[in-house]
Amino acid sequence: MSETIKPITIKTFQKMKQSGEKISMLTAYDCSTASYLDESGIDSILVGDSLGMTVLGYDTTIKVTTEDMITFTKAVSNGVKRALVIADMPFLSYHVSIEQTVQNAGKLIQSGAKAVKLEGASDFILNEINHLTNCGINVAGHLGFTPQYINAIGGYFVQGKSCENTLKLLESAKRLEENGAFCVILEMVPEESAKYISENLSIPTIGIGAGKYCDGQVLVINDIIGKSPNDFHIPKFVKQYADVKSIIKTAACAYNNDVKQKMFPSAEYTFNLPEEEREKLEHLITK
Ligand code: KIV
Repeated sequence: MSETIKPITIKTFQKMKQSGEKISMLTAYDCSTASYLDESGIDSILVGDSLGMTVLGYDTTIKVTTEDMITFTKAVSNGVKRALVIADMPFLSYHVSIEQTVQNAGKLIQSGAKAVKLEGASDFILNEINHLTNCGINVAGHLGFTPQYINAIGGYFVQGKSCENTLKLLESAKRLEENGAFCVILEMVPEESAKYISENLSIPTIGIGAGKYCDGQVLVINDIIGKSPNDFHIPKFVKQYADVKSIIKTAACAYNNDVKQKMFPSAEYTFNLPEEEREKLEHLITK
């Protein structure tokens, strides 16, 4: 008898915050990886616009489009039974008008995501979160270092590095919470600041480079398995758990060698004609 799977929802996130159980989140961009993460017990899978770098080879997330996010969200959702799938809304897909934001978010939800993520906490964005949640679309916030603002920020800098800036971050996080966000990602924030923010919010914080006191943690899958593009800068906050690049290169070298040495495909990897058909063919050849 197959075991019934209880999907993780935004209510589960809230319960985990209250009970103190840490929330685990990883990014994924394809169906098979997403299914492995799901089977591993990861609570939430983020279809991050980091796919611009990890999959599409861009230098930032800025070039990622809603169409890209739809394709990858469908792929990931098809592999997931339990984890909460969150899809990033890409650059400028939620800055033009409420109508466009709702339509774009709706496309990601129709692609299988159970929530969308937006960066920032301007008045405009808070209003959008309100509208989205009124439509039944769950929204995750993202504060601290916000990659879609890279050109305005001017580099990969830790955010909230003073008491005053920590209080500003908390203020933004509270406004996200008041307007309906169910969690907030804190990226590249000092541990003490993230702790203070986490303790003063009712919704869970999910840290990336924000220390151990956040209610959950998220990392980019390619970073933790060592499958980043060549020359890609791996941030200080990443712990690498595997070396998939070496595994792929070792397999590819062995295959290349087998092909060149005519050792592949051998009999076990080959289809053959039935005996009598083979004889007929040989007869034709020898004619
Ligand atoms: O796009 C992404 O992968 C993200 C995480 C870094 C939080 O937003």
